[in-house]
Amino acid sequence: MNHFDYKNGELFCEDIAVSDIAKEVGTPLYLYSKATLERHFKAFDSGFENLDHLTCFAVKSCSNIAVLSIFSTLGGGADIVSGGELYRALSAGMDPKRIIYSGVGKTEEELRYGLQSGILLFNVESEQELHRLNSVAAELDMRAPVAFRVNPDVDPKTHAYISTGLAKNKFGIPIREALDLYVQAEGMGNINVLGVSCHIGSQLTLISPFIETLRKLKSFVGQLADKGIAIKYLDLGGGVGITYDDEKPPHPIEYAKAIEEELAGLEVTLILEPGRVIVGNAGIMVTEVQYTKTNRGGDTEKHFVVVDAGMNDLTRPSLYGAYHSISPVKEKETPLQTVDIVGPICETGDFLAKDREFPKVEQGDLLAVESAGAYGFTMASNYNSRPRVAEVMVSGDRYYVIRQRESRESLIQGETIPDFNR
Ligand SMILES: Cc1ncc(COP(=O)(O)O)c(C=O)c1O
Repeated sequence: MNHFDYKNGELFCEDIAVSDIAKEVGTPLYLYSKATLERHFKAFDSGFENLDHLTCFAVKSCSNIAVLSIFSTLGGGADIVSGGELYRALSAGMDPKRIIYSGVGKTEEELRYGLQSGILLFNVESEQELHRLNSVAAELDMRAPVAFRVNPDVDPKTHAYISTGLAKNKFGIPIREALDLYVQAEGMGNINVLGVSCHIGSQLTLISPFIETLRKLKSFVGQLADKGIAIKYLDLGGGVGITYDDEKPPHPIEYAKAIEEELAGLEVTLILEPGRVIVGNAGIMVTEVQYTKTNRGGDTEKHFVVVDAGMNDLTRPSLYGAYHSISPVKEKETPLQTVDIVGPICETGDFLAKDREFPKVEQGDLLAVESAGAYGFTMASNYNSRPRVAEVMVSGDRYYVIRQRESRESLIQGETIPDFNR
């Protein structure tokens, strides 16, 4: 459930008309509901209340510090994948002891930053990373807290680009080879082996791949115990899906109960890394219709709605062919038309919706692109030299600009024209 609702034919975010915000802030814009963010975090986290656990929000899904600070206040931590995300999490007031660091390509500088910040765990994804971490930790005279991200070779049954737990994916260490690495790490002077982690993919709509993974992890933890290696943390990653169209993902409580049952008997602190399931339906993108047009040729007749947001602002439709529900901010009773809703970017792949049955709209109408809270703004770029849009958060009957719209000046910030004759 979220707090975007129609009242008398107008879309509201909590207690404010979306059109009022758009009028003042301009479009396009991302709009988040604070009450929804809180509700979704609590719904997820409370499912694990009987277990010793830590919910580390996946910063990559929505990284504005105002959003992160809400989860921090609710007792959550952060799952980060870069030094930049670490900086964000710390800037949002996150306790470093609730921050875990995943990712296949951590640089020396990033490892140093993580160590100096005192984070809870590094999810190490390769043997070379282990050695690099050991030497950086030695340099700092520290012991690096480590979990290995194992790749369980489980099919998450999701889009190929967001599957991460198959043997052919770049992530993690093959579970069959991981045991040797644990033994090796135990003998390293600057490594403190604390956990096992995994993340098999995103937008999962079935519980079974999580359970299959957990079974493999349990058996692996048993093998570690046989070698005298005790594990304190078990990190199951994120991945629970949401409804964009007609998907029927498990409710977070249902997911939590299934994990709890499967986990019975294992004495560990459970770590979860949810992203999409918390923020996905807590945000929308608002865009304004610029033009409507019809292109004809041969027996083709194609209707387009050209809006002011493009694939640089919300890339998921172009990148994954992802579906986002789109609705006029003020309900329309006009006849339906089959349209492509497209942006201003000079790419045919620039679309928000294809062949969508949509009420006839006109220049100046506002549209709400739903379920845009996750992997929306965080994947935005400046392509076609478009300043990134504003992010706004609503709480009750007030709204706050939590990220200013970028300016034209900001587009060339840091660029210089060299004096080639000097
Ligand atoms: C390591 C890791 N953890 C957590 C997540 C969050 O996944 P989701 O947003 O599907 O919950 C991701 C996303 O791909 C990830 O790569």
